[in-house]
Amino acid sequence: MALHFTLLDGRLHDRAAFTCGTPALDTYLREQAGQHQRDGIATTHVLADDRTPGRVLGYCSLSAAQLHLHDLQPPDRKRLPAYPVPAVRIGRLAVATEAQGRGYGRLLLGHAANCACALRQALGVRLLVVDAKDERAASFYAAFGLRPTAEKALTLYLRLGNT
Ligand SMILES: CC(C)(COP(=O)(O)OP(=O)(O)OC[C@H]1O[C@@H](n2cnc3c(N)ncnc32)[C@H](O)[C@@H]1OP(=O)(O)O)[C@@H](O)C(=O)NCCC(=O)NCCS
Repeated sequence: MALHFTLLDGRLHDRAAFTCGTPALDTYLREQAGQHQRDGIATTHVLADDRTPGRVLGYCSLSAAQLHLHDLQPPDRKRLPAYPVPAVRIGRLAVATEAQGRGYGRLLLGHAANCACALRQALGVRLLVVDAKDERAASFYAAFGLRPTAEKALTLYLRLGNT
């Protein structure tokens, strides 16, 4: 089994078959993700197996974002200028119900972080940001080192880079 990431392709990916246990995330993939990708609102990255490339094992959608400096925890504000901090936002992240518990959520999060780091070759990106849908989802992200923002416990961020 060889896994790969690819951008959502409406002609290839079977969006209708995807269910993750959270209806809003299924509906997003089915009804909005393609349009958002065409409109430059968010890109959707699909995790699939080479043998069944049309089957969506999981996905995450990414877009440009920013956090205010005061959203960051004090140690993370050091050396930053006093204006909004550029970021990549994970708008949505989900793994198909039958594929959960195999490390795919971890892979999707790692892929999002890699994409954000790769963008730093072209533009400033300091943070990876996610709006968790509830406390359970927040604890998933917190386990990978994302920190809650000062004001909203369900918005978490990861500092990119070593400084
Ligand atoms: C949350 C979700 C993305 C996790 O995906 P997954 O593929 O099952 O997770 P993984 O197998 O990669 O698990 C990685 C780690 O996270 C932990 N984990 C998984 N789901 C978790 C959850 N809901 N809360 C806290 N921790 C969780 C696992 O125990 C595992 O930890 P370990 O390495 O110490 O064993 C998936 O369950 C899902 O899509 N749920 C429905 C939608 C959702 O809640 N999305 C969250 C974004 S708002």
